[in-house]
Amino acid sequence: MKKVHVKSYGCQMNVYDAERMADVLAAQGYEETPSVDDADLVILNTCHIREKAAEKVYSELGRIRENKAVRARQGLETRVVVAGCVAQAEGAEIMRRAPVVDVVVGPQSYHRLPELLAARNRDAAIDIEFPVEDKFRALPARRNGAEGRNVSAFLTIQEGCDKFCTFCVVPYTRGAETSRPVAALLEEAKRLVGLGVKELTLLGQNVNAWHGEGPDGKTWSLGRLLRRLADIDGVERLRYTTSHPRDMDDELIAAHRDVPQLMPYLHLPVQAGSDRILAAMNRRHTADDYRRIIDRVRAARPDIALSSDFIVGFPGETDADFAETMRLVNDVRFASAFSFKYSARPGTPAADREDQLPEDVKSARLAELQAALERDRIAFNQAMTGRVIEVLVDRKGRAAGQMAGKSPYLQGVHFEAPEAIFGAVAVVEVLEATAGSLRARYLGVKGASALGGGAFHQASAAPYSGAAQGIANAT
Ligand code: 5AD
Ligand code: SF4
Repeated sequence: MKKVHVKSYGCQMNVYDAERMADVLAAQGYEETPSVDDADLVILNTCHIREKAAEKVYSELGRIRENKAVRARQGLETRVVVAGCVAQAEGAEIMRRAPVVDVVVGPQSYHRLPELLAARNRDAAIDIEFPVEDKFRALPARRNGAEGRNVSAFLTIQEGCDKFCTFCVVPYTRGAETSRPVAALLEEAKRLVGLGVKELTLLGQNVNAWHGEGPDGKTWSLGRLLRRLADIDGVERLRYTTSHPRDMDDELIAAHRDVPQLMPYLHLPVQAGSDRILAAMNRRHTADDYRRIIDRVRAARPDIALSSDFIVGFPGETDADFAETMRLVNDVRFASAFSFKYSARPGTPAADREDQLPEDVKSARLAELQAALERDRIAFNQAMTGRVIEVLVDRKGRAAGQMAGKSPYLQGVHFEAPEAIFGAVAVVEVLEATAGSLRARYLGVKGASALGGGAFHQASAAPYSGAAQGIANAT
């Protein structure tokens, strides 16, 4: 059997796309290999969001070229595909600079991989169109993947972006905003549950802008879709990412109050705390708009873990602007966050501004911001100590006898437990917050009779409904 190795960079949607490429290639007789050395086909699924992305791809291609030469001496052929957002942005330039590449394919065309691999000339082996045909319709059904994938899976519901924040390449690499139809999503979700998946993470560059015609003929929003997905037997947990503040509507906020399967976690990028910078970024909301949304979300789900993305050093950002970002962070207290130095992306409006900031200013601001975010992350995790929470067990722990998984708040949790609970929702008591995860004591499996659920019910009926306010809704 031929082997394919897919190396994915960047966001979760790339992880999803990588899996779907493997689905396409499985139908062509390829099996996945975790090692690049024994791969007959290597796919680099690239990311273009920040600087040096393209350079990284070219140096990786250099390594692959050496690898290919080694394999060639053993009489083995290696073919190379560059996919993802760098492929979309660079197109034929990749073929020119790196002759080792056989196929260049953008994020909207990878369902055509078999044809592209069979192309007779290099021009025909490039596809960076935004085709009218629906890639999703052309893709084969989801298959069983690697072990962990069968517990928690991504499901792309929306792609592209029409918001045009002035720093961002996404509207150019992923194209216009499109939503997948309800029926297709329900079908894919049911298929995944049939494979044993317990947790679905709905993906989109602007996931809360998703809308589609429901079976009732009405236009559904994400809140409505989440309710419908929660009705599917076997869907234990739902998450969605990434959202834009402007699309946080009442129905979605209400879903956080009403849908027990919807996990108390919200990634809602704000990028900056200064209204002047937010306007220059074309975010079309103010810092106070954001605070008000957070207040409404917290009113709906008081224990929700909030997460965000930040950019420091956007062109023209003053000390006073940056102080506003720090003030927002100190007001909201995020459970987790990603923060970046502004990086000028070719073709985006902000890249052409003349008031770019020096690197050392950006670095100093990033360090200050990250220290505050880290303080809040640790505080959030430490506040979990003593609480009884549910953990979806999706892997073995690092040490022997340990199992691990995710809390409702997306924290990693590890504890000693029998291997048989893989894929189940475990109930645990948090003992301690360590640097990267929570250490816990296993109490039992949620609602199960076969795996010691009875013991759990005796041991912790009271704390489960009381101390664990975070999962009060989830039961
Ligand atoms: N520079 C720095 N960070 C960026 N992001 C997007 N574009 C840029 C850029 N040009 C960050 C934003 C976004 C996250 C996915 O990446 O914070 O939310
Ligand atoms: Fe980029 Fe803004 Fe669209 Fe997010 S909303 S993908 S940051 S343009």
